[in-house]
Amino acid sequence: MIVPAIVAKPDFIVTRASHAVLTVRDLKASRAFYVDVLGLVVSDEDRDVIYLRGLEEACHHSLVLKEMAGAPSCERVGFRVLTEEDLDLAKAYFEKAGLPAEFVRVPFQERTLHVTDPAGTRIEICATMATRERQIIQFRKFKSACPMRLDHFQVLTPFVGKVWGFYAEMGFRTSEYVTEADGEMVRAIFLQRKGNPHDLVFVKNENGPRLHHVAFTVPETYHLLHFCDFAANSGFGANIEFGPQRHYSPGYAQFVYCRDPDGHRLELFTNHYQTMDLEEPPARWTTEMLKSMPGYGIPPPDKWRSEAMPFSKI
Ligand SMILES: [Fe+2]
Repeated sequence: MIVPAIVAKPDFIVTRASHAVLTVRDLKASRAFYVDVLGLVVSDEDRDVIYLRGLEEACHHSLVLKEMAGAPSCERVGFRVLTEEDLDLAKAYFEKAGLPAEFVRVPFQERTLHVTDPAGTRIEICATMATRERQIIQFRKFKSACPMRLDHFQVLTPFVGKVWGFYAEMGFRTSEYVTEADGEMVRAIFLQRKGNPHDLVFVKNENGPRLHHVAFTVPETYHLLHFCDFAANSGFGANIEFGPQRHYSPGYAQFVYCRDPDGHRLELFTNHYQTMDLEEPPARWTTEMLKSMPGYGIPPPDKWRSEAMPFSKI
């Protein structure tokens, strides 16, 4: 297995994972979960859409929920680039690869680029977003999990090897990766731009692309436990899917996974380690190593491995 070389000075600067756009069947039910039970902050809302952000986030939204008929889906996952010029260079990069790329208008964002990666992941990229006041010291607004900020996405795809080089050329660096025991077949890649272990994770699965989860940070381990109590006490106890536990595997964080009323999966986790310096080697795992790691608690249910949200077709 050859890890793609680091591209320290890519053609354009992606800064971070930014936001996710999900469709839901009943916006009132979703609002009750995300605002009243999870603790996200409302930036704006109307009858069909709600814009949410974490307590430390100044940018307008990290989660957009749109009420739509039919099966729920992930419309897009969002990334930020540093400048408007980077946005034009990003468009050229996707077009050169023969992939869809078009500018669209999106509320509360300046020029927005819609692209699709080689795995079929639907992505939107912007350089500028409206801002709101950080709630980071508005402690009377802290509730339940106290989600602070969006950190990363995980996508399931049959084409992990194919996307690895594509994202490496964009400047994404590999913090960790998983191979089969013989070291040949890559099972998962953890890619980062913002200096912690991941902004975007791809895990091999025959049915993809599908969004496995969107992850938000929480302040402390206590908030994982408090969220579980809060959810159970609010009638959402069955939505807790896996954890609280620790990843004795890539990322190393303490976590809990839960499902929203439509089945969208969230990971809440305590913070990650820093990784920036170019000489740091990516951590290599094999599937055998992951099985033999020490740990506690029960393993994830089968649905945690198999179920994920399709991307929208439109
Ligand atoms: Fe995650």
